[in-house]
Amino acid sequence: MKLPVNARFSTVCVHAGQEPDPSTGAIITPIFQTSTYVQEEVGRHKGYEYARTQNPTRLALELNIAAIEGGRGAYAFASGMAAIGAIATMLKSGDHVIVTDNTYGGTFRLFDKVLTRYGLSFSYVDTSSLQLIEQALRPETRMVFIETPTNPVMRLTDLATASALAHSRGVKVIVDNTFASPCVQRPIEFGADMVVHSTTKYLNGHSDSVGGIVIGVHDEDLEWLKFIQNTEGAILSPFDSFLVLRGTKTLALRMAQHNSNGLALAEFLSKHPAVKRVLYPGLPDHPQFELAKRQMRGFGGMLSFDAGSLENAHRVCNRVKLMSLAESLGGVETLICHPASMTHASVPPERRAAIGLSDSLVRISAGVEDVQDLIDDLAQALG
Ligand SMILES: Cc1ncc(COP(=O)(O)O)c(C=O)c1O
Repeated sequence: MKLPVNARFSTVCVHAGQEPDPSTGAIITPIFQTSTYVQEEVGRHKGYEYARTQNPTRLALELNIAAIEGGRGAYAFASGMAAIGAIATMLKSGDHVIVTDNTYGGTFRLFDKVLTRYGLSFSYVDTSSLQLIEQALRPETRMVFIETPTNPVMRLTDLATASALAHSRGVKVIVDNTFASPCVQRPIEFGADMVVHSTTKYLNGHSDSVGGIVIGVHDEDLEWLKFIQNTEGAILSPFDSFLVLRGTKTLALRMAQHNSNGLALAEFLSKHPAVKRVLYPGLPDHPQFELAKRQMRGFGGMLSFDAGSLENAHRVCNRVKLMSLAESLGGVETLICHPASMTHASVPPERRAAIGLSDSLVRISAGVEDVQDLIDDLAQALG
């Protein structure tokens, strides 16, 4: 099998990084569940010495996702947080980072509770405003860490203009692309220097693995990530690598359904009398609909809506039957949650208010079920 140089997205998802196993011809990359590799003589081996450093299942996944994101290389870690932690090791004491104010709570916790102890500082900024990014830039700023769309208020950052501004000051741009998936948005095309994923979500897609990956384009970043993967040792296991690799083969198929179910649910909810407002970048009333059309291919499977009150929000979450009340996102099954008391409970109320996360907000991760069944479920829960 030879992947054409100009292979299209779904072909890349199925084939990139995948060669039949040379010893058996197995079409699927085996789970190389080994801790070490036998060497032919001292200093002569097949490129594998010790499994923290190299593993063929993990390597196949890294090559696959690097191609999917349009990067030059990728390194897989034990979780999305371990991947973000690996990026943070590129910083030195005294450095400053600009972060999307509505970033994932675990990222905020790592930056605010751990990394500030090492002399790093962080400014939390509404990165949807170029002006606010510009105002936050300092001589010691090294990175802009962006999430777009944000969770759960679905605010977007213009990746092309934010990257151009950051680069004009010698600052690197990192994008956490977990929420959109590379099928919907490829930040490297807009100038990002590194992309990070919680593979736990859309890349795996089946809610049965926890993992993370960083994709890069610059040699110095990739060399450092490889070094840190081996040095800190927070590697993705062979079995998890296998699961995510199986997931990425159907990424394009799954995302097409996530996108269309997300849009259909957003449209249904926006016409429902019990719903005050729907937050979804694919609706024309989203304040950044034009940017969404430019930057995203499809609008994703994540949406939020205002149920009018805390009581109404809890009632909908408790009354759904087909949807599951759970944190996380990006799996084939539809999940619903109440961010203020679940995913964002650790965010102080005044900070939640500042980013527009009200107590009446409900978040949905649209799965790939028949959309009419999902609409019927929401209709009975809202009724
Ligand atoms: C946007 C985003 N980034 C990073 C993470 C962390 O990933 P993990 O849970 O795999 O450590 C999450 C988890 O929910 C997330 O939603």
